[in-house]
Amino acid sequence: MTNEIIKFEHVAKKFGKNEVISDLNFSIDKGEFITALGSSGSGKTTTLKMINGLEKPTKGEIIVNEQNLKNCNLVDLRRHIGYVVQSIGLFPHMTIAQNIAVTPNLLGWNKHKISQRVDDLLTQVGLDPEEYRNRYPMQLSGGQQQRVGVARALSTNPPIMLFDEPFSALDAITRQNLQQEIKSLHQKLSNKTFFFVTHDINEALFLGDRVMVMNRGKVEQFDTPEKLITQPATEYVRQLLDTVHQNEVLWEHFK
Ligand SMILES: Nc1ncnc2c1ncn2[C@@H]1O[C@H](COP(=O)(O)OP(=O)(O)OP(=O)(O)O)[C@@H](O)[C@H]1O
Ligand SMILES: [Mg+2]
Repeated sequence: MTNEIIKFEHVAKKFGKNEVISDLNFSIDKGEFITALGSSGSGKTTTLKMINGLEKPTKGEIIVNEQNLKNCNLVDLRRHIGYVVQSIGLFPHMTIAQNIAVTPNLLGWNKHKISQRVDDLLTQVGLDPEEYRNRYPMQLSGGQQQRVGVARALSTNPPIMLFDEPFSALDAITRQNLQQEIKSLHQKLSNKTFFFVTHDINEALFLGDRVMVMNRGKVEQFDTPEKLITQPATEYVRQLLDTVHQNEVLWEHFK
């Protein structure tokens, strides 16, 4: 029995002639909260999309839930992987409840089960079902829409959740609240694996059990926040973490 839920073996990805990922190797255990950091264009989104089959590797093997993605039905796979992105993509003409219920409806759940699930999920992401279930997306703030995006991705109780910079368009306070909530959601929903891409170093260090630092299509270091801080493996990692210190220096300057 293995506890691995995601494994990349010698994965490479080219777009045309341009190799954007080269020889990517890592594995993630069930229940881990993984965050990914790295410069723009380093391959974070591409890596995420290879996990749910939205992009195919040019070389190598990807194993998700003990299945090699080469031999797996991708539509089925995606139903077992929640996906939350920055531009949430809620359907504007559907109510919040209908938006959350899209996949359960496709799967033919009965009305009673769906409405219970919708109310449950709204509660879990901190929105009062009474108040929000019949509203339309445009009647919600950006942060509230993002919560609905998380609820929708959780609708079928997938074992894996992928997040691609979900909070980057939000103000700092809303963002911090959502970070707290996503962390406690992960703790409550025991054994779900989260893979969360962000540009915010503090967010990555706060949320991640382990942090994957990518640069130019390679993993520079994949380690606990503590290890990254105390033993940066490369100059790039050291520089990246140093930017946090620079902010501290700025604060001291104004005190
Ligand atoms: N569909 C595509 N066709 C061609 N090139 C692509 C495609 N998608 C991504 N790329 C290229 O692959 C590289 C990695 O892109 P990716 O979106 O994975 O980066 P990222 O780390 O998510 O960056 P960011 O932090 O800006 O979101 C970039 O150089 C990008 O231009
Ligand atoms: Mg990206």
